[in-house]
Amino acid sequence: MKRLLFLMMLAPVLAWGAEAGYPLDRSPHEPTDLVSLQSGARLFVNYCLGCHSAQYMRYSRLTEIGLTEQQIRDNLLFTGEKVGDMMKVPMGAQAKQWFGVAPPDLSVVARSRGADWLYTYLRTFYRDPKTATGWNNAVFENVGMPHALWSLQGERGYDPEKNQWTQITKGALSQVEYDMAVRDLVNFLVYVGEPAAIKRKTIGIVVLLVLGVLFILTYLLKKEFWKDVK
Ligand code: HEC
Repeated sequence: MKRLLFLMMLAPVLAWGAEAGYPLDRSPHEPTDLVSLQSGARLFVNYCLGCHSAQYMRYSRLTEIGLTEQQIRDNLLFTGEKVGDMMKVPMGAQAKQWFGVAPPDLSVVARSRGADWLYTYLRTFYRDPKTATGWNNAVFENVGMPHALWSLQGERGYDPEKNQWTQITKGALSQVEYDMAVRDLVNFLVYVGEPAAIKRKTIGIVVLLVLGVLFILTYLLKKEFWKDVK
């Protein structure tokens, strides 16, 4: 039931994402999986925050996904940052000069692009000597972003005409492990886009339970009222 409601809410996003040429893979992220969210947070800080910010997100909020302030301090903060700081870019304005386009803030990217798009995008970078960065992407043609996770996935080649992928160099992770890492990262990006969602779902379940109880009471009351009429 819960899953069905969730899918119904997701339907417009899926339909929108399907417009693009390259078929999108369904994102297997699980918003209630805290271990996955924590791993995603670590990946985001290590591989993405160098260029992208998540300016509506404070590090301190990460206690919501089960991290202690000490863990945040030890694992996720760059020198000089405080737990209460926003997740901002250390690199700043130079990025636009380097890549031609400024790396956008990723606070709400999961909502604007959809989780399936992100999950596919982060797994479909390929080597392309024709672009400025030497990288291209199957769902984002001529993207200005280099493949930030290439050391994990390895370098791959892609022939859009034949829709054929080739592995050029090996990465640190196997393909299955890489897919899992991207799942965690997308999970985190979805969470960043809507940190209140975890709480809201719990409230939703309570509301449904209360409605259920009310329904039973109303039914019993109705029986009680009509008992003498018949
Ligand atoms: C070296 C800098 C750099 C790093 C590191 C980097 N990005 Fe990017 N990213 C960019 C740039 C530049 C763009 C803009 C590309 C464009 O518009 O052509 C971009 C675009 C994106 C977009 C598309 C946004 C949109 O809606 O158009 C997403 C999503 C994204 N990055 C996610 C990530 C994630 C997740 C990571 C970490 C794994 C990451 N990026 C690491 C530079 C970077």
